Amino acid sequence: NSATTSSYNKGRGPRVKLRTTWSLRPCVSTCRWTHTKEKGKPLMLNPRTNKGMAFSLQERQILGIHGLLPPKVETQDLQAMRFQNNLKKMTDPLEKYIYLMGIQERNERLFYRVLMEDIEELMPIVYTPTVGLACTQYGHIFRRPKGLFISILDKGHIRSILDNWPETNVSAVVVTDGERILGLGDLGVYGMGIPVGKLCLYTACAGIRPEKCLPVVIDVGTDNETLLKDPLYMGLYQKRDRSQAYDDLIDEFMEAVVEKYGQDTLIQFEDFGNHNAFRFLRKYREKYCTFNDDIQGTASVALAGLLAAQRAVGKPITEHRVLFLGAGEAALGIANLIVMAMMEKGMTQAEARKKIWMFDKYGLLVNGRREEMDSNQEAFVHDSPGNVQSFLDAVNIIKPTAIIGVSGAGRLFTHDVLKAMGTLNERPIIFALSNPTNKAECTAEEAYTLTNGKCLFASGSPFGPVTMGDGRVFTPGQGNNAYIFPGVALAVILSGVRHISDTVFLEAAKALAEQLTDKELEEGRLYPPLSNIREVSVQMAVKLVEYVYAKGMAFRYPEPMDKKGFVRATVWNTNYDSFLPDTYDWPGVSYSPKSN
Ligand SMILES: *[C@@H]1O[C@H](CO)[C@@H](O)[C@H](O)[C@H]1NC(C)=O
Ligand SMILES: *[C@@H]1O[C@H](CO)[C@@H](O)[C@H](O)[C@H]1NC(C)=O
Repeated sequence: NSATTSSYNKGRGPRVKLRTTWSLRPCVSTCRWTHTKEKGKPLMLNPRTNKGMAFSLQERQILGIHGLLPPKVETQDLQAMRFQNNLKKMTDPLEKYIYLMGIQERNERLFYRVLMEDIEELMPIVYTPTVGLACTQYGHIFRRPKGLFISILDKGHIRSILDNWPETNVSAVVVTDGERILGLGDLGVYGMGIPVGKLCLYTACAGIRPEKCLPVVIDVGTDNETLLKDPLYMGLYQKRDRSQAYDDLIDEFMEAVVEKYGQDTLIQFEDFGNHNAFRFLRKYREKYCTFNDDIQGTASVALAGLLAAQRAVGKPITEHRVLFLGAGEAALGIANLIVMAMMEKGMTQAEARKKIWMFDKYGLLVNGRREEMDSNQEAFVHDSPGNVQSFLDAVNIIKPTAIIGVSGAGRLFTHDVLKAMGTLNERPIIFALSNPTNKAECTAEEAYTLTNGKCLFASGSPFGPVTMGDGRVFTPGQGNNAYIFPGVALAVILSGVRHISDTVFLEAAKALAEQLTDKELEEGRLYPPLSNIREVSVQMAVKLVEYVYAKGMAFRYPEPMDKKGFVRATVWNTNYDSFLPDTYDWPGVSYSPKSN
């Protein structure tokens, strides 16, 4: 092709005139370039458009990057292999985190490719527990900022800060104020790692397009003395503002987000202090499209485990008696969702509540107890069943079919408790949900060995498979919220849900439990393998989209008739876009790659 050669030789590169119809083509899953029209080096510096050495020769010439890369053209497979090999050599999780985030900063699709291909290994790196460690070191390992930083000094100007964010079509925001980052406490602006990590899972697990996701940290100061003395800290050097100004700031933020990105923008609150988390959830849940993963996501994933366990036990949920260790917000969230599940099977609310008991640091929640109980707990306060001095007494007297630990107070499912559960039940259900691993109420090994392999066990932190003396192997379930929130988010975004009701989380739990195969259940699993999470999330989203349309909660019209096709068509994948237009005109010649 002489035109190509001659203009190439002149060193100007061929001029490309885009077909107008091409630039107006609806953006299905390709062609970011249609909006940006970036060329040359900036295209390579933008992680969203960069393909590294996977730019084809034609692309390199047309885009003006020929010579800026080594001559070889690589496939994404090969690129991924390079990073996978390097990751395998690393032993330090924080080092892996820094390395992975570096890929994200350079080549987004490749990052997600690497992450998704080994999600079971890498989820604990980009998300808990390693992300927590990374947050504590945020100012020390800092390379490039990700996400949006809004401080209390920006009050009155939040909208203009949002306008600085380069993406115009955001549909999901994850926001934290850094007060209670995982189990680590107040990390102030260092908490940014959490929204970033959470949104990585939105994309990796549910295929939500990364440009539609916006991580935000709100900086109102920190009460963490270590950080206030750290010269590398990156937030305001002041104590947390707990005045009205803080509430006003959050109000302004919520308003600015919907004003800019639309009414149905999903806003997920993450790792706020407990007090604020509940307050804001109550305050905003009817006004905005919002949910709190620590409360609602946790409840949903726990219920899913229970529904799966009930399949193994062969008793409907209405015949179970549940004893909680812990009576805080997590316990109440789970309990309320269990009540909803029981009511769906025909029980009254009062009957369902009677099936649920709670035991906290002062003992069983019973009428007339001296220690104070709050109004949220009232529903689960019953008449005293007898003389309960300890959790073991409670187990022996109440005879629960399931015990659920959410107290965060360490190994309180003692050997006696576990043995008692094994004696009382054919298949006892034992959930040790407190995080991290050293706070779990018992280990997987204890649960299986002390119940002779009879129990159905799930934990909040991951435990490896347990081999029994007789050779049986059990794979414990990890009640990871990542089974729930990405699928819920995908469904909510796609169907234009305005308010996410608790029933959505009930449906999500059912959709998750359904996806567990009988074979997996036999292995002791209560959740599908994490390696399968993309498919699990997408199927859950299909179920939820069907549900919200059926219940009139969806606001995106026209209603898609084929919900499955609708969801699957939007799921983002990590294949590189082609930067070559279908047809383009060289000076003087018409050139079409298809007829080439
Ligand atoms: C304070 O910050 C440090 C460093 O980030 C962290 O390790 C620690 O857990 C925090 N402490 C509290 C009480 O929040
Ligand atoms: C944002 O979405 C609108 C409507 O869906 C679309 O017309 C527009 O091209 C999108 N813009 C970008 C930058 O993706």
